[in-house]
Amino acid sequence: MGVDVVKDYVDEMYGWVPSEYRSRVVIPRSPLILEALSVARDKDSSQIAFRKALVRIGRFLAYEVSKELPVEEYWVETPLGRARGFRVASDIVIVEVLRAAIPFVEGMLKVLKDAGVGIVSASRGPAPEFRIEVNYAKIPSIDDRIVIIADPMLATGNTLLEVTERVLREGRPSRMIFATVVACPPGIRKVLGRYGEARLYTAAVDPELNQKGYIVPGLGDAGDRCFGPDHPHPIR
Ligand code: URA
Repeated sequence: MGVDVVKDYVDEMYGWVPSEYRSRVVIPRSPLILEALSVARDKDSSQIAFRKALVRIGRFLAYEVSKELPVEEYWVETPLGRARGFRVASDIVIVEVLRAAIPFVEGMLKVLKDAGVGIVSASRGPAPEFRIEVNYAKIPSIDDRIVIIADPMLATGNTLLEVTERVLREGRPSRMIFATVVACPPGIRKVLGRYGEARLYTAAVDPELNQKGYIVPGLGDAGDRCFGPDHPHPIR
């Protein structure tokens, strides 16, 4: 039963991905990711539980990304003979979009230990324009490196688009990957439509956005849930 349930749910989520982008979206069939995602979705999860869930999702998603990394082969001497050995031959930069990506990237770095890290701070203005302002960026050289841009919520896609434009001012990556916790169709369309070679790894795809630009059912305001809200009432 367990495996079928996971497959059914992931297949259902692939159904929300616009068909022209489906081959570039990876939603892992992972019971552990779905378990952590459920904790993150739960409105009664504490701030600590929420952050830990994002760390776990970051770790598991990075493991999925690692499956497409180039490897070098070499011979390794065991105490008893010779065996084929492998080492990951890629040079990675993870770009962390503040605030909510902090625990997410913490998890990714547990797997992609040698990755360089870039930081971008972007804020989103009110509906209906949702204008994005990049307030701060510190990005290492990205030329010929694999760049993973990590932002837990791919909603309208405006933030990721602005952040990616800013990142690409630093050079030409060998490959570009977006990593999110929850994505939804308008954001997927906007970002994968603009960057034709990029791939998206995400724990979940949800069907819609509300008028305030929040993903439904989603998990709420990811930054507030990680670090505490600056308003007393939950957003609906
Ligand atoms: N940002 C969030 O934190 N949550 C959403 O649902 C959309 C954007």
